[in-house]
Amino acid sequence: MKHVLITGATSGIGQSLALSYASAGHHVYACGRNEEKLTALVRQYENITPLSFDITDKTQVKAACANINEIDIVILNAGDCLYMDDPLHFDSERFEFIINTNLVSMGAMLEQLLPKLAPTNRQNTENPQLVFISSSASLLPFPKAQAYGASKAGVDYLANSLALDLAKHRIDVCLVHPGFIKTPLTDKNTFDMPFLMSSEEAADRIIEGITKRKRYLQFPKRLTVFLHLLSSLPARCWQSFASKRLS
Ligand SMILES: NC(=O)c1ccc[n+]([C@@H]2O[C@H](COP(=O)([O-])OP(=O)(O)OC[C@H]3O[C@@H](n4cnc5c(N)ncnc54)[C@H](OP(=O)(O)O)[C@@H]3O)[C@@H](O)[C@H]2O)c1
Repeated sequence: MKHVLITGATSGIGQSLALSYASAGHHVYACGRNEEKLTALVRQYENITPLSFDITDKTQVKAACANINEIDIVILNAGDCLYMDDPLHFDSERFEFIINTNLVSMGAMLEQLLPKLAPTNRQNTENPQLVFISSSASLLPFPKAQAYGASKAGVDYLANSLALDLAKHRIDVCLVHPGFIKTPLTDKNTFDMPFLMSSEEAADRIIEGITKRKRYLQFPKRLTVFLHLLSSLPARCWQSFASKRLS
């Protein structure tokens, strides 16, 4: 039995992860702001501990994390997506909101949780795991995605850089690049989402990768391999494709 903390556990990918880990008998710290949804989770599984807080509020993060004792796996999943509608009237509030929610908030979580993950402070001798849910959107620049894409590119750098420094502390880092997953976040999208996957299937892929201690996960491969290929071409090829097909 492991102790797993998941941010954004009240919806979408995080909720599917929480239910899956809880049904397998693990102890889950389920984080989110929506208390009704947290209560519904606890009603389903008594091995779920709800932690209601806003990840962008450092005081709330500190108070919530003070209630955590043993922890083996941290999954930083909570996030939001807003598009930048008019490039000539760049909405700095929107930009700041997304960067804060998806990236800056991780700093406060790491400050509180890394000391608890450190092997010297834990009874379990297996390496603890730190998982970052980024997005395949960080692989290429997409129209209107200046805020979301920049936040996820930042998450990639944060995860990859921390992986180097945490290796000597025996903390394993995993970076996840999901493609399109059907959740309330993508239900708002009005464009085609190729190879759309359910949140349950996404959670299965993530849990399998975490169990195998993978350093990097991407799915569905049909989408992410295509994006990797396009990202290796000269920038003008992608610009031409994106302006014809995605604008
Ligand atoms: N869906 C996709 O296609 C897709 C693809 C690639 C990557 N991702 C990433 O996967 C993660 C989960 O996305 P999702 O699609 O499952 O989204 P979702 O269904 O909208 O869920 C988002 C979760 O984040 C939590 N959250 C948002 N802002 C928060 C805040 N300020 N404080 C605390 N919790 C907050 C929400 O909880 P409360 O409302 O209870 O606060 C909710 O549980 C995100 O990081 C997203 O960028 C999603």
